[in-house]
Amino acid sequence: MRGQLQALLRRAASTQGRSKIDIDWDNLSFNLDHHGQEMFCAVWNGPAKGWEGQLQDYGPLSLMPSAQALNYGQSIFEGMKARRTAKDRIVLFRPEMNASRMKDGARRLCMPEVPQHTFINAVEETVRANSEYVPPLGKGALYIRPLLFGSGPILGLAPAPSYTFVTYCAAVGSYFKGGQLKPIDLVVENKFHRAAPGGMGGTKAAGNYSAVLQIQRAANAKGFADVVYLDCKTDAYLEEVSACNIFVVKGRTIKTPPLTGTILPGVTRDSILQLARKRGYDVKEQPIPVVEALEADEIFTTGTAVVVSPVGSLTHKGKRRVYGGGVAPTPVGLELYGDLTAIQNEQTGDHFGWVHPV
Ligand code: COI
Repeated sequence: MRGQLQALLRRAASTQGRSKIDIDWDNLSFNLDHHGQEMFCAVWNGPAKGWEGQLQDYGPLSLMPSAQALNYGQSIFEGMKARRTAKDRIVLFRPEMNASRMKDGARRLCMPEVPQHTFINAVEETVRANSEYVPPLGKGALYIRPLLFGSGPILGLAPAPSYTFVTYCAAVGSYFKGGQLKPIDLVVENKFHRAAPGGMGGTKAAGNYSAVLQIQRAANAKGFADVVYLDCKTDAYLEEVSACNIFVVKGRTIKTPPLTGTILPGVTRDSILQLARKRGYDVKEQPIPVVEALEADEIFTTGTAVVVSPVGSLTHKGKRRVYGGGVAPTPVGLELYGDLTAIQNEQTGDHFGWVHPV
């Protein structure tokens, strides 16, 4: 109660002098141009006290150069979206799944877990404090980035002596250039891998995303939107795209690679699997040979940031396969995109109980 009052007073003080936000909602991109003004920041005070945190102004964090996360990468994150819906309210989408994935990641990287109620409370407070950054219905979303990292100093390789959990946000539009449903061009990577069995591919660890930067940059320079990685044992099966999961469609069969530890267990991935089953598709989580993908009817990618992105072409060892003419979204991806966003925007019933009002 006292904390809530302090937050209210702090917010009133910080809003004074802040000019009313002026955002061109029709031209949002996926960047920090319109970051929220407040973030939730908590520190770990040991098993007896747990996490203690509050809202504060979005701004720099103070860290020693010896902070574990800066030196050894003890850092995980989540990606979530809050949307303004057809019911004129703001909702999150399946936040308990993000909370659970962050708990799994904390265990994998030897960090204290953030309990589900602490995680969801931090996200809700961040959304409420920055509600004016939630775009109007259909114009984008408030992207929320919860971060958990070893902030304490350490020299020898060991877990950090202290931890920070931060949640910040920004108003965003489509992830890939050209708009949400513009088909993207992907290239299959033949040399580098994103993850290996027994590694951290299934964890939302910051380092997984740095590991692909060099490859992604090279692909971008050749005009590709992103890269598809293959399994590191045989170089034959699809794994994941740098920033999203991948689905392959042939007739009424929809396949995505199984969660064997090298693939991120995406919230959107899981939602699309359920929606596709509900539509009566034959849905399979099984290894997909790259040659099968090249012969498929269509391919699409899924993720919180990308939502559902149709793939216009896939290039493998110099051969380019175009799907659906390469310019218009392909039908199955489009249908499932419609199903998913109708729920997220509360334009249809929430059959699965996925929507979480803030
Ligand atoms: C997300 O989809 O939310 C992610 O965290 C992926 C990131 C590369 C933007």
